[in-house]
Amino acid sequence: MLVSAKEMLEKAKAGHYAVGQFNINNLEWTKAILSVAEEMKSPVILGVSEGAGKYMTGYKTVVGMVNGMMEEMKITVPVALHLDHGSYEGCLKCIEAGFSSVMFDGSHYPIADNIAKTKELVALCAEKGLSLEAEVGSIGGEEDGVVGMGECADPDECKAIADLGVTMLAAGIGNIHGKYPENWKGLSFETLDAVQQKTGVMPLVLHGGTGIPEDMIKKAISLGVAKINVNTECQLSFAAATRKYIEEGKDLQGKGFDPRKLLAPGAEAIKETVREKITLFGSANRA
Ligand code: 13P
Repeated sequence: MLVSAKEMLEKAKAGHYAVGQFNINNLEWTKAILSVAEEMKSPVILGVSEGAGKYMTGYKTVVGMVNGMMEEMKITVPVALHLDHGSYEGCLKCIEAGFSSVMFDGSHYPIADNIAKTKELVALCAEKGLSLEAEVGSIGGEEDGVVGMGECADPDECKAIADLGVTMLAAGIGNIHGKYPENWKGLSFETLDAVQQKTGVMPLVLHGGTGIPEDMIKKAISLGVAKINVNTECQLSFAAATRKYIEEGKDLQGKGFDPRKLLAPGAEAIKETVREKITLFGSANRA
């Protein structure tokens, strides 16, 4: 059964480790992530962006697939199914469809609007038992080849949002989705420290987990990060392994074109990436 991310993240914050959010795109992704979480006895968060939800034909399909898989695979570790960077309407749809956690990304609104909309969702999520992630200070990333530098959140605005009763808070600390550019200045630990001082026990979320050096990940965890999002890195591992299979001509040998064979190296590569992250984040054997 899916669970809210509240308990796993409170434990992670108190225990000084982080739970990974791994974004899913299809059955192979979901199966790979769930099997590694179970193998390593780690709690896990399956992230679904609005685009990925649409790709999988809608949130109900996602809920049906994940619930079915958890039962068939006999998953015993805590699993949260979480909307990533949701709009207000997206959150409502996911709550209705049976997600156990949602993120409302109001970081592009003026702070007063972000507060007002987040507040409404706090009440709704509390009523239904879902965890809610809010965001302050937008996270940079690449869009159409233009890389936006990650903003640094205002710690007072973080406190204002945290005080609304959200479960976890994503604060921009110079992090970026996708690959980091050559001239990236690194995470702003000064901002993270200031945010944690204002928000206390609130589990903090680090987006853009792909390509952040290990020492920065560890330092971020020591400063209150309890959830780390990884998406692009699984996509890169999957693509590289699939490319290798095809370049070696394996799809042309025997029944190598069978999707269960063609997609297997990619799925194994996702598993290896997830294993590495769970080890780095310290969430193994914490289920
Ligand atoms: P990456 O794609 O950089 O790993 O970021 C994932 C993320 O933050 C999803 O919200």
